[in-house]
Amino acid sequence: MKQGRSMKVAIAGASGGIGGALLRLCQNDSSIETIYALSRQPVSGAKVQYFKIDYDDLSTFEHLSTIESIDALVIATGALTSISGPEKRIEQVGLEELSSLYRINAMGPILLTKALHHAFSKHKRSVCIALSAKVGSISDNYLGGWYSYRASKAALNMLFRSYAIEVSRTSKCIVSLYHPGTVATERFSLFQQHMDQSKIKTPEDVATALLQHINQMTEAHRGKLFDYTNQVIPF
Ligand SMILES: NC(=O)c1ccc[n+]([C@@H]2O[C@H](COP(=O)([O-])OP(=O)(O)OC[C@H]3O[C@@H](n4cnc5c(N)ncnc54)[C@H](OP(=O)(O)O)[C@@H]3O)[C@@H](O)[C@H]2O)c1
Repeated sequence: MKQGRSMKVAIAGASGGIGGALLRLCQNDSSIETIYALSRQPVSGAKVQYFKIDYDDLSTFEHLSTIESIDALVIATGALTSISGPEKRIEQVGLEELSSLYRINAMGPILLTKALHHAFSKHKRSVCIALSAKVGSISDNYLGGWYSYRASKAALNMLFRSYAIEVSRTSKCIVSLYHPGTVATERFSLFQQHMDQSKIKTPEDVATALLQHINQMTEAHRGKLFDYTNQVIPF
């Protein structure tokens, strides 16, 4: 990271494809002193302090109160589906999948952020960035389908927009959202076969772009969704 001092970075979803690649990248970044790895599965390594988090068990957030300060929180948790695949037709839309994806993609991330709110300094720059998705843009939805995933990411965008505005009144923390592009991670790649394979990125490339993005974030990024080319995606 560019600040040239000892940074503390928290990565939620450090056991996942993008989160794991980001964790490995941060381990090799000499400006990062501590990595708080927040995930369901244990993660270990140099500079890593592991904290179990599970959006289905909010009591796991209680021990996050021991984290005193964070320079960057990256929320790389999420799920595309918890059934056989994203819904294509209205007949496939059900309460269980809607609830499940809202919990994983929207409610979990904002409640996790709430549990770490105390760790953002009021006086120095910090970053809170959640991985969203272009398909969560309501105005960009020309194809339909993927009801639960799209809606849960739209909800995530709204929750972090509100948080960004609130935080801007009292702190220098920049709260933002990020679309990483299409990434060949284990669970998401099952649904990428029909896509142009040349446009699919590796988690390592995405982690590098994401870390650069975090370094370059300014006040202009507050409360907005940006893609990996630093272009705003309208909500
Ligand atoms: N891959 C893509 O093409 C793509 C495109 C656009 C946006 N994104 C977004 O990028 C983010 C990361 O995606 P990814 O491809 O790295 O996914 P991934 O490999 O499936 O990783 C997802 C992470 O979320 C965690 N997670 C899932 N459910 C959870 C729960 N209930 N409580 C706590 N943690 C939970 C997983 O933990 P476990 O390992 O314990 O399950 C894992 O660490 C997601 O928000 C996704 O929507 C991805």
